[in-house]
Amino acid sequence: MVDRNGQGRDVSPSGSPTRPPSSFVEQANVTDEGIYETFEDEWPECWDRAGSLLEWDQEYETILDDSDAPFYRWFPDGKLNASYNCLDRHLEAGRKNHAAIWWEGKRGESETYTYRELFVAVNEFAAALRELGVEEDDVVTIYLPMIPELPVAMLSCARIGAPHSVVFAGLSADALATRMEAADSEYLLTCDGYYRRGDAFNQKSKADNALLSLSQDVSTVVVDRLGEDLPHVLGENQYDYDDLTAAHEGETVEPVTRDAEDMLFLMYTSGTTGEPKGVVHSTGGYLSYAAWTSHAVLDIKPDDTHWCSADIGWITGHSYIVYGPLALGTTTVMYEGTPDYPDRDRLWEIVDRNAVDVFYTAPTAIQAFMKWGTEYPDRHDLTSLRLLGSVGEPLSPRPWRWYHEHIGGGECPIVDTWWQTETGGIAITTLPGVSEMKPGAAGPPLPSIDARVVDDDGAAVGPGEDGYLTIQTPWPGMATTLYDGDDEFVEEYWRQFSESEDDEWVYFSGDAAQVDEDGYVTILGRVDDVINVAGHRLSTMEIESAILDVDGVAEAAVVGGTSGANRTDVYAYVSTENDYEPGDALSRTIVSTVEAAIGPIARPEEVIFTSELPKTRSGKIMRRLLEDIASGDELGDTSALRNPEIVGEIQAATRTE
Ligand code: WT7
Repeated sequence: MVDRNGQGRDVSPSGSPTRPPSSFVEQANVTDEGIYETFEDEWPECWDRAGSLLEWDQEYETILDDSDAPFYRWFPDGKLNASYNCLDRHLEAGRKNHAAIWWEGKRGESETYTYRELFVAVNEFAAALRELGVEEDDVVTIYLPMIPELPVAMLSCARIGAPHSVVFAGLSADALATRMEAADSEYLLTCDGYYRRGDAFNQKSKADNALLSLSQDVSTVVVDRLGEDLPHVLGENQYDYDDLTAAHEGETVEPVTRDAEDMLFLMYTSGTTGEPKGVVHSTGGYLSYAAWTSHAVLDIKPDDTHWCSADIGWITGHSYIVYGPLALGTTTVMYEGTPDYPDRDRLWEIVDRNAVDVFYTAPTAIQAFMKWGTEYPDRHDLTSLRLLGSVGEPLSPRPWRWYHEHIGGGECPIVDTWWQTETGGIAITTLPGVSEMKPGAAGPPLPSIDARVVDDDGAAVGPGEDGYLTIQTPWPGMATTLYDGDDEFVEEYWRQFSESEDDEWVYFSGDAAQVDEDGYVTILGRVDDVINVAGHRLSTMEIESAILDVDGVAEAAVVGGTSGANRTDVYAYVSTENDYEPGDALSRTIVSTVEAAIGPIARPEEVIFTSELPKTRSGKIMRRLLEDIASGDELGDTSALRNPEIVGEIQAATRTE
């Protein structure tokens, strides 16, 4: 049996299949039902459809070189530049005055960048980066909230062939330092601060703290976001963004020709060990896959206004706010604020005002909208919407139907898209112009994505049975390696089901899933030491190691518990050293230590003290049992426990918290 990681939702029977409306199908980018078969027959040449969405400095002759699997090389003899593909070619095509980015600020302000304006900003900052000494292949770390300088900087890096490493602005100083150290990054772009719930929040002091602990010298660029609201001082080797770019006003920088497999960026995410993993994405494979899935799944047209409400600090924002939409030359909306400020209709007001065509968000958000009620979307005209998307967690049938009816007016297909930082782009979902939707199931794998649900031995399980989600053929968007090292890459993703080099290489996602008789996949949750909290991927081991740093803590086990409303929270089970009084003070220290080590997103919802953690006879902490307790589920088999008497105590402590 697959041992799920507290993320397991009740698998409600999928809702009744729903066909996409013909009004949608008539205009969809992909409508050919035969596409699944074609891709299978023509593999890997089928991926020319993705490659040909881009413009290449040197056309590729080879689609895939798999001689060094699992290090697959896509379009290996092709050369291109990502910034050129997202900017210059649209100017050349006469679309310079078309809006590229529609930015909506936290305080109701908005800004539009046409493709021409974005081109200018990117060139100026690229010139500034060069002046600072950034060379091809130098990693530039970007630690910014959702302000236009963030995508500008990403494209500037891409222009000069410097991989970016964007670190989510909400992560702590320690988390930033770990990532910069691991990537040996000598350049940092941050800002003075940003508004959080109306107050000025200091980002630069976090960045400065991170810099203090680094062994390398770092040049820092600071965006002045808050002006008078939060005055700041520049230290040694720190530069003002506006001053730097003003010095390069009107300059252009020739896009650097990159090999298709050269690194476009790295993105740190939680893996199965405590350390964050630096997932490496290529220029040609990644960009073509982001563009292809934006075209085929999100149905993006150049004249659309596309809004993905994720944060660019995570992969969803990289692929579907920045690279996919801009590669296709569309208008992408970027929103800095939260859905409930100044009121709970904020998102719908933005959809209405900008006539958004495609809206892509997360189940946590959809569940919040549902709780707030229909009066908020009802205040606005949402008829511009053509397609809705969901990503990050399972979307259950009830919120699916609410989203379909109250946001989509019953007329927009919904794509429930499964993918990961490592897949680079969407891998499992319906093609909205082709397939029936089944609420509750993500859908069939995309054409040529050979996703299979398997048992411990790697054999496919039958319909409706739990198993591990694997992908058995390579695809262009896949991570090329881990920055931490090639061996780590193989260990983390490829060893579970391919033990020897002679085996076929099988990619293991870390998720449990089921597949139904029509091949639709329902995701059950993580099976490894990773938990998914409100769409944030967290390593339980990373949180545990932060807690173990607290004075008085003897042992800690962190699990994800689903409390009532299908929401996963962080539960920390802690035992203290002899003579150490557990209590509120210690609990507060534990919470603040986790916030300092990782960030508020990893904050334990509950800290539960227990005299001992439940352990197997071989001394392993039985996390599965703790997950069941945290979620209030029936307890599974406890016969392997060495200390079964502890279970009652832990249950009682969890309930009274
Ligand atoms: C994990 C990846 C790139 C997506 C955003 C998060 C979970 C993702 C779904 C979905 C159920 C989903 C999986 C996956 N997940 N999409 N449609 N249904 N679960 O990227 O941070 O790399 O997290 O998110 O557990 O492994 P990520």
